Amino acid sequence: MQDHATLHYDDKSISLPIVTGTEGERGLDISRLRAETGLITLDDGYANTGSCQSSISYIDGERGILRYRGIPIEQLAEHSSFIEAAELLIFGDLPSPEERQIFRDLLTENSSLHRDMRKLFDGFPSVAHPMAMLSAVINALQAYDLPQISIEDEESFRRAAALLMSKIRTIAAASYKAHLGQQFVHPRYDLSYAENLLHMMFTQPYKEYEPTPEAQHALNMFLVLHADHEQNCSTSTVRMVASGGANLYASVSAGVCALWGPKHGGANMAVVGMLEHIRDTGMPVQQYLARAKDKSSGERLMGFGHRVYRNFDPRAKVLKQAADDLLDRMHITDPLLDLARQVEEAALADDYFAERKLYPNVDFYSGIILRALGIPVDMFTVMFAIGRTPGWIAHWKEVTDQAAGRIHRPRQIYVGPELTNWQPKAERRSRFGWFGRRSSGQG
Ligand code: CMC
Repeated sequence: MQDHATLHYDDKSISLPIVTGTEGERGLDISRLRAETGLITLDDGYANTGSCQSSISYIDGERGILRYRGIPIEQLAEHSSFIEAAELLIFGDLPSPEERQIFRDLLTENSSLHRDMRKLFDGFPSVAHPMAMLSAVINALQAYDLPQISIEDEESFRRAAALLMSKIRTIAAASYKAHLGQQFVHPRYDLSYAENLLHMMFTQPYKEYEPTPEAQHALNMFLVLHADHEQNCSTSTVRMVASGGANLYASVSAGVCALWGPKHGGANMAVVGMLEHIRDTGMPVQQYLARAKDKSSGERLMGFGHRVYRNFDPRAKVLKQAADDLLDRMHITDPLLDLARQVEEAALADDYFAERKLYPNVDFYSGIILRALGIPVDMFTVMFAIGRTPGWIAHWKEVTDQAAGRIHRPRQIYVGPELTNWQPKAERRSRFGWFGRRSSGQG
């Protein structure tokens, strides 16, 4: 196979190297394009742009494959704890028993919040969305963890990674408690990561929450399946912020903000909202699908479609089965699960979705699992953020490790006005024509 492509432009011919990845994916290296031709590339939404070379996770969207550091997601979902998967992503290998113990101890030591951090939660109105609290408090962590993270020093980085992994769980639970106006609950040192999260969210002063093995298993699997997904919107945001030299907490806080939107991590909330809407209005599934297909409706079938997967999202397959098993084992009947199955079946049989290769994604069934665990809808995207944290940390490290790495700074094609002169106020036309011209004003 050729190791370069030739581009003919004007009277020039330039050679563009082809870069090949471990699994044979090939990309055109255009880094010299502008210098040699004056051209840049234009790629709306970066749909066809490789922004980096990365060794963290691998997706084959055509075959529905996702691997963390080479290991298939199905194996990790079956065998790994979330923390083991996190160590794999962050440090590159499955941890040895000793490494596992060191990291476990660090998670335990770092699970409580500094007493002064409570004031941050007090500053939010009780109606604040937990995602707003999560991103703000993570960003503030740098102020409470003053020693700088030295990326060359393995121990310092390991401590910072464990601190963030542990504190994001405590911050998430505290955001939930603040939202409800309830007392914060201290972490317990005898529980697994997932159990401790449920404990801090659901324990009341008068009643200790006892997580069941089914709940711990399902939440652990949910977190493992969300742990990384190569260059998605929030991870690319973390990498972008990290490329400017920002610290780990600021970079991850930016990732939380990027995750919030309904086209990304907010889709798990939107799926449940959509199913409830169909249920509450009694709208036939076909009528809802017709709305989702109609571009002028501004609606989409939430939990369907993916930029990379043109086949089943492998995470959705595992979660669909997990939702079935969990409801069965907990003896819960959730009419939304039946409705979700009907919507999936109808969409998969519909030409619109088939032609565009739109299949259920990770968010389609995850909300059913979170509901069964008693997690309120407002916290769904927060749970996704906790799950995605190891991936964000791993990508921050990958960017920061590249000593000579360049700041991420895309270009653009400008389509605004040509050179225009400044005008005195009296000569300006109001943009709000129907309000008429302002007759007076300062400044
Ligand atoms: N419902 C109806 N039509 C859709 C949907 C959908 N869910 N998704 C894509 N399309 C249509 C879209 O209108 C377009 O049609 P046409 O070719 O006629 O213009 C075509 O499919 C291609 O869509 P696109 O918007 O160019 O695809 P994209 O790769 O830019 O968007 C997506 C990917 C995930 C944002 C989109 O599929 C979507 O909005 N899905 C619903 C929201 C959702 O479930 N998001 C979670 C994604 S997975 C987890 C995560 O990343 O956080």
